[in-house]
Amino acid sequence: MQLQDILFSQGFGTRRVCAGLVQQGFVTVAGVPCTDPAMAFAAEGLHFTVQGVAWQYHAKAYLMLHKPAGYECSQKPSTYPSIYTLLPAPIRQRGGGAAAGVQAVGRLDQDTTGLLLLSDDGKFIHRMSSPKHHVPKVYQVTAKHPVDEAQVSKLLAGVVLDDDPRPVRAAACERTGECQLSLTLTEGKYHQVKRMIAAVGNRVEDVGGLHRSRIGSLALPAGLKSGDWRWLTAHDLASIAGTAAAVTGGAAPG
Ligand code: URA
Repeated sequence: MQLQDILFSQGFGTRRVCAGLVQQGFVTVAGVPCTDPAMAFAAEGLHFTVQGVAWQYHAKAYLMLHKPAGYECSQKPSTYPSIYTLLPAPIRQRGGGAAAGVQAVGRLDQDTTGLLLLSDDGKFIHRMSSPKHHVPKVYQVTAKHPVDEAQVSKLLAGVVLDDDPRPVRAAACERTGECQLSLTLTEGKYHQVKRMIAAVGNRVEDVGGLHRSRIGSLALPAGLKSGDWRWLTAHDLASIAGTAAAVTGGAAPG
């Protein structure tokens, strides 16, 4: 693949801009400066730098972000900054065109913190977010009032939310402190945790009340600071594809 096309595919600008970056000597490949935009390389896994910033070629982007409070998961946020501003420009611009860049796999409320996946692979986004695949998502909840066993039982048995007569139930739920719960859901309705907690007569604490700690087999790494992101590893991807397959009883989709 030509170097200018590699840069273009990774979100470094139009083909013309990418050719210019190479010609002006802003690009090194495997540590060696390269000024020929048409020079061909095996793209997969290629390490290069653009204006001194190290990069690696990824045919598709799969990332995790430790979402901080006070960010909206929308490309066009109404009140708070967008989570997309936490990502480097090339990741936001991958692919060019109207649907450029990565998209969040589902959304977290602006005040919710924790694990968020992003990708530019539509099939992956669908597989991870579709209620059909029942990928479990684990939330750590801090409630305003003490949590009792009756509330836990109701969350497990199922509560009716105002937009659907069918009860929604937690796949798992346990008290982890006087006002704390660990709650596992396999679907993602609007404000689902907050509405389920309200339906059992309690309320999620306004500040620091909701944190997503896990999606399927993937836990938010202790070392990934709030606001930071990282690429998913091949191991992460294999294990999360395994989760999606195991819960639907099928083979991991490619
Ligand atoms: N449920 C909620 O109520 N909010 C979130 O952000 C995620 C799940």
